[in-house]
Amino acid sequence: MKALLVGSGAREHAIAWKLLRDDPSLELICAPGNAGISELADCIPVKATDVNGLAAFAERANVDLTVVGPEAPLAEGIVDVFRASNRAIFGPTRAAAEIETSKRFAKSLMSDAAVPTARAEHFTDADAALAAARSMGSPLVIKASGLAAGKGVVIGRSSEESGRAINMMLRDSVFGEAGSEILLEEFMEGEELSIFAITDGTSFLPMLAAQDHKRLLDGDLGPNTGGMGAYAPVSLATTDLIDKVSDTIFEPTLTAMRKANRPFTGLLYAGLMLTDEGPKVVEFNCRFGDPETEAILPLMKSSLLDLMTIVASGGSLRNAPAIEWEKKFALTTVLAAHGYPDSVRTGDAIRFPAPPHGIHVFHGSTARDSATDQLVTSGGRVLAVTGVGDSIEEAAKCSREYAGKIGFDGKQFRRDIGWRELERHAGAA
Ligand code: AMP
Ligand code: GLY
Repeated sequence: MKALLVGSGAREHAIAWKLLRDDPSLELICAPGNAGISELADCIPVKATDVNGLAAFAERANVDLTVVGPEAPLAEGIVDVFRASNRAIFGPTRAAAEIETSKRFAKSLMSDAAVPTARAEHFTDADAALAAARSMGSPLVIKASGLAAGKGVVIGRSSEESGRAINMMLRDSVFGEAGSEILLEEFMEGEELSIFAITDGTSFLPMLAAQDHKRLLDGDLGPNTGGMGAYAPVSLATTDLIDKVSDTIFEPTLTAMRKANRPFTGLLYAGLMLTDEGPKVVEFNCRFGDPETEAILPLMKSSLLDLMTIVASGGSLRNAPAIEWEKKFALTTVLAAHGYPDSVRTGDAIRFPAPPHGIHVFHGSTARDSATDQLVTSGGRVLAVTGVGDSIEEAAKCSREYAGKIGFDGKQFRRDIGWRELERHAGAA
């Protein structure tokens, strides 16, 4: 079997590793990949967003299955293009991907389907938004409606902060087109949880719950990032909670997507807030999360390749058994480059000792220097180090210790990933 994986981050490295674990004879090609993925797969220099280039390659190479990692090619309609020529591809169509790429669409879908989420109103006019913000009070959440690389959300703790954020998006166009429409949203209090479901559009299989850490610094301080670490499973995600999320969130959302003639196939990511009133949706994503995937996949016993093949070829998951998981814990620490998340420096040499048992090193932004073949940093999130252990403490210790041993100038990483779970566990002991 020949598979094409689209993307170049640590998420894609984890997916590549898992697909090859499921079928070591798989012929895997990655576009464009990175230095770590190139040790597992043939990397081809086609950009993830070059949808026509990827489709031409898949035809030429007669690829059996294409798996899409990031949202950008989905938003470009890669699934529509592949399906038009009957090529199996795992992911949602462009119209279905709007559940992530248009917060306005996602909100109105949830409101029509009575899916629990924060109340929100949308605006394109700054004066109208400022007036509404004053009457909605603080704290208030201000969001760019389009894709803003995880940076388009501001929590306005005072009316001055909310006003500044509204002006920045609608008057100063800091996020360009993505911020030409904004949402003002009720602030939800609680703990966040990421739950993914693999779906054929109707039936779905929830995966292990994970928790991401979006702030740059220990103690959840500093600027928002794409994600500095994650762990799985999360003890808050009991069977009852997953059932409730399935019944009140995944089921009605997938039904509403079918009714809207946008059946969602692939991976639906529910970013949740566990409020006093129950789980509510913060956001949906139309693809695997990064870094949650790097924590979840090392624990997955069932074949991801089989499930992706069924969904990509238009089959049904109706009779698929629940996904099986190792009875272990995984914790991922992200190592970021100098200057991340603002002005990232690249080209720093990376050195690390051979990873011990229980450690997975997934490459994010790494490359080989063309002159020296030295491994160097090539973007913001450089490596994801996942420790797997019999307890959350052991997973955390492995991940942190090994993250400390990796050397590159300007390395930034958090030493407290999983702190909430570690506190809960210590409290329960
Ligand atoms: P989003 O891009 O919508 O996932 O938002 C990024 C982050 O902002 C989330 O992970 C939350 O931490 C926070 N956030 C977004 N919306 C809300 C909300 N309505 N209430 C509280 N926090 C929020
Ligand atoms: N971990 C957050 C995201 O993938 O969007």
